[in-house]
Amino acid sequence: MGRLNNRVALVTGGARGLGAETARAMAAEGAAVAISDVDGAGARALAEELRGHGAKAIGLEHDVSSEESWATTMATVAKELGPVDVLVNNAGILLVKTIADTSLEDFRKVSSINVDGVFLGIKNAFAAMGARGGSIINISSIAGLMGAAGQIAYHASKGSVRLMTKCAAMEAATLGWPIRCNSIHPGIMDTVMTQTHYGLGSDNANTNAMLGMVPSGRFGTPADIAFAAVYLAADESSYVNGAELVVDGGYMAGRAMRPDAAS
Ligand SMILES: NC(=O)c1ccc[n+]([C@@H]2O[C@H](COP(=O)([O-])OP(=O)(O)OC[C@H]3O[C@@H](n4cnc5c(N)ncnc54)[C@H](O)[C@@H]3O)[C@@H](O)[C@H]2O)c1
Repeated sequence: MGRLNNRVALVTGGARGLGAETARAMAAEGAAVAISDVDGAGARALAEELRGHGAKAIGLEHDVSSEESWATTMATVAKELGPVDVLVNNAGILLVKTIADTSLEDFRKVSSINVDGVFLGIKNAFAAMGARGGSIINISSIAGLMGAAGQIAYHASKGSVRLMTKCAAMEAATLGWPIRCNSIHPGIMDTVMTQTHYGLGSDNANTNAMLGMVPSGRFGTPADIAFAAVYLAADESSYVNGAELVVDGGYMAGRAMRPDAAS
């Protein structure tokens, strides 16, 4: 028996990276999976891969910043797979720019995907799940837990995801709906996002310095997040609600220095 048998899961931004691995892991646990992405071809290719392994899967073109696109996506998923039981609000973009260089347009662009996209996801999931219940998993970041130079738009957006998660958990409880809503806070994960913006995957001073700040001594893999998402989707986490699951190799826990290095 898969841990997600008879569940329908929608993973946004699922064409690659953390979302793609989460879709694979959920399908392996028996869920019917809808993969949505602005990269519709990428989403459809992954769905085909999963169907090749015997899973029920569809790929959809979906822009999470658009209300209309959400309406179409939710209707298609309901028609093709059934009503959504698990929503992973994973789609997101990173912007590395100083405050001086960040235009209002830049700020709004990041917010439109990372904040509006998650808000619309929660809103649509509430409508689809209602008294039936379900699990909403929002991919925030360690960026939602602390500040950093040169990333004001991104950190603001991920902080917002952290608190929208708790608001959704509280509102579902007041409605008496068994919808759980939790956030995952990945650390520095090796994906196209960090390869593009930080040069991960190539040996350079910046990434070596970043690696030195990770107590576990390695960057994260998409599978690290996929396992966490499966846990939050499954019944094993039925008492976990409004929580922040930090998956960062110890990055936020402190500084792993030898005692003599501090003196
Ligand atoms: N990689 C990391 O180190 C890291 C760390 C913390 C949090 N995160 C978060 O995890 C999530 C996934 O990151 P990733 O590293 O896999 O990134 P990625 O860039 O590799 O993949 C993101 C996916 O989202 C899609 N996407 C972008 N805009 C979209 C939109 N408007 N609508 C639908 N899909 C859209 C992209 O096409 C892409 O397939 C993001 O929310 C990111 O902020 C990543």
